[in-house]
Amino acid sequence: MTYSRIAGTGAYLPEKVVANKDLEKSMETSDEWIRERTGICRRHIAADGETCSDMALAAARQAMEMAEIEATAIDLIIVGTVTPDKLFPSTACIIQRRLGIHGCPAFDIQAACSGFVYALDVANRQIQTGAATTALVIGSEVLSRITDWEDRGTAVLFGDGAGAVILQASDEQGIISTHIHSDGQYEDLLHVPQGFGTSSDGLRTEGAFIQMDGNAVFRRAVATLGSIARETLAGNGIDKHDIDWLIPHQANLRIISAAAKKLDLSMDHVVVTVDEHANTSSASIPLALNTAVRDGRIQRGQLLLFEAFGAGFTWGSALIRF
Ligand code: ACO
Repeated sequence: MTYSRIAGTGAYLPEKVVANKDLEKSMETSDEWIRERTGICRRHIAADGETCSDMALAAARQAMEMAEIEATAIDLIIVGTVTPDKLFPSTACIIQRRLGIHGCPAFDIQAACSGFVYALDVANRQIQTGAATTALVIGSEVLSRITDWEDRGTAVLFGDGAGAVILQASDEQGIISTHIHSDGQYEDLLHVPQGFGTSSDGLRTEGAFIQMDGNAVFRRAVATLGSIARETLAGNGIDKHDIDWLIPHQANLRIISAAAKKLDLSMDHVVVTVDEHANTSSASIPLALNTAVRDGRIQRGQLLLFEAFGAGFTWGSALIRF
């Protein structure tokens, strides 16, 4: 049986840091409110001219270095993003050009905050069937460009960044299972209601900002993360107490804590980075993973559970022997 194994991780956060206190100057909010309701302390914001592919490439290079591979070894590139450099070609194709490689499939996946887990699902299946041997899987977002900086209900929640992994075919167990779902009936609860629409005016980007019913999203996220965890563990006959690390989508500390509680996991076994970079959508799980791999908390052989939830709604999980 061929498995796919995480051979390397990488991440990138833009240099500019905007702390909660900085936001107090431009909107009616407070550091205290943001920390208490979300757990967020600061976020990184891309510089003018810095793109989704710039950040993705930086994260990818780190992951390649850890995996000790050259770009020519990569035979699949998938990028999860809702903020691509261009409508087309895909950011994955742009990464392919910038890595100087040719011919392998490269495409983006748009599943909002579940984008990385969706990308991992597809890459894992490509490797298991023998269609690919070395996949570069990235989540990268410049959410600051689709954030309404005058809306305190959303502006305090989001940030920019990228995370990446190299997945390699292996005889040793790596990704044990992935699970992905969506339910489009919730389209309007979390969306950027701009696009080509139905008129002949072309693309409408003015005012293309994230709109969200925060309370409804919160409730649904907590319930759904509980059900995806149960599905994942039951599907593999694994007890919740066997999980070494929960690496959830980093949207809100209260959502993360509720997900941990459902698994009976103490917060010592949950990787939390939302305080440092806020919600970076598809980048958040690989950013958190990279942090805990590089600081030595996550060790080879441990059992990891990734959980994601995002607009659509979309949701998913991955159970991984690291
Ligand atoms: N600063 C200060 N006060 C604020 C702010 C702010 N930034 N935002 C809202 N408030 C006020 C509200 O106006 C409200 O005031 P009122 O009582 O006078 O009307 C009060 O705070 C409470 O507002 P609620 O919306 O009830 O606050 P809540 O505790 O639900 O927290 C939040 C809001 C943080 C948005 C929460 O609902 C949440 O986290 N939702 C999920 C958001 C999320 O994670 N989205 C992304 C997940 S999926 C994805 O990643 C795409």
